Amino acid sequence: MATTDGDISGLEFEPEVLTKDDLQSLNTYDGITFPPAVRVEALKEIRSFQIRQDDVFIVTYPKSGTHWMNEIVNFLLADGDAERVNRRSSIVHIEFALIHDVGKERSKYSYMYKLLKNIESRRIITSHLRYRFLPKQVDEKKTKIIYVARNPKDVFTSWFHFLKNDPRYGHLPWETYFNGALSGEYMFGSWFDHVLEFWKMREEENVLFLKYEDLKSNVRETVASIANHLNLTPTDDVIDRVVQSTSLDEMKKRYKRMETDSQDPVKIHYGKSYGINSYVRKGKIGDWKNLFTVAQTEEFDRVFQEKMKDSGLSFVFQ
Ligand code: A3P
Repeated sequence: MATTDGDISGLEFEPEVLTKDDLQSLNTYDGITFPPAVRVEALKEIRSFQIRQDDVFIVTYPKSGTHWMNEIVNFLLADGDAERVNRRSSIVHIEFALIHDVGKERSKYSYMYKLLKNIESRRIITSHLRYRFLPKQVDEKKTKIIYVARNPKDVFTSWFHFLKNDPRYGHLPWETYFNGALSGEYMFGSWFDHVLEFWKMREEENVLFLKYEDLKSNVRETVASIANHLNLTPTDDVIDRVVQSTSLDEMKKRYKRMETDSQDPVKIHYGKSYGINSYVRKGKIGDWKNLFTVAQTEEFDRVFQEKMKDSGLSFVFQ
């Protein structure tokens, strides 16, 4: 039954328990390091996942505003009506869901696989994967993709805060995380390679490349451009409602409600990854200044200049 927080009822979800061995074995596949929960078998399976013509892909490097974009698209598809929002396909990213007929201990994922496969249209499929890992049919059918990029200093900061309290990731010290993220050895590979790949695709008709900072400074216009990309024609009123319902404050309240008002692990996970880390935190531009040392800032700026030169892509950092 739908609630004011939209319908994600009736879903099953078993929070994943990673063992110490899992944590020590980040998977590396085709040159990219993945979190333990993203299995190589799933990455292979995803390539043949069947795509529908009206699917919407939200692709991001982690901590770039994925959940914000998910809420925006969910609300747009529901004409801004909170009761009609359907978050069923947004519960997990495709790379975490698609374990299928692989070793018994992972069989719980086949449920999410079936869910994504059978869920009603229009599906929102979220992913942190590089283009070559997405289902082949995304390329063949020119599926709509919304790519959100965020300034990498805030991405690193956000991710560090997300993982630091998570025993599954071994309470990484900031210094270790910073070095791994900057060199691209950390989960989901290099931020630079990820963002530049989709930046190069920005002129393709099915790709909408957006920046988190533009959403912050000009949310109404950006939401209108998302609607346009998805061939939706919302009224001004609907756009207002989408903007209002997906504001930082509203999302904080809603996620908190899902987490605290509910015994339902799906809802809890929706607001807080595995019940541990909230997907909504400060939601600011420039929080990196509270974390980066002067030396790290200099090192980061040097790498950024080198990697981004000639790309024509710039970011607002404060
Ligand atoms: P911070 O950790 O800097 O606060 P993702 O969804 O990709 O994991 O990204 C999470 C980041 O997006 C977090 O950044 C979170 O606070 C921010 N965020 C989530 N909802 C937001 C909103 N409605 N407005 C602005 N930022 C938001």
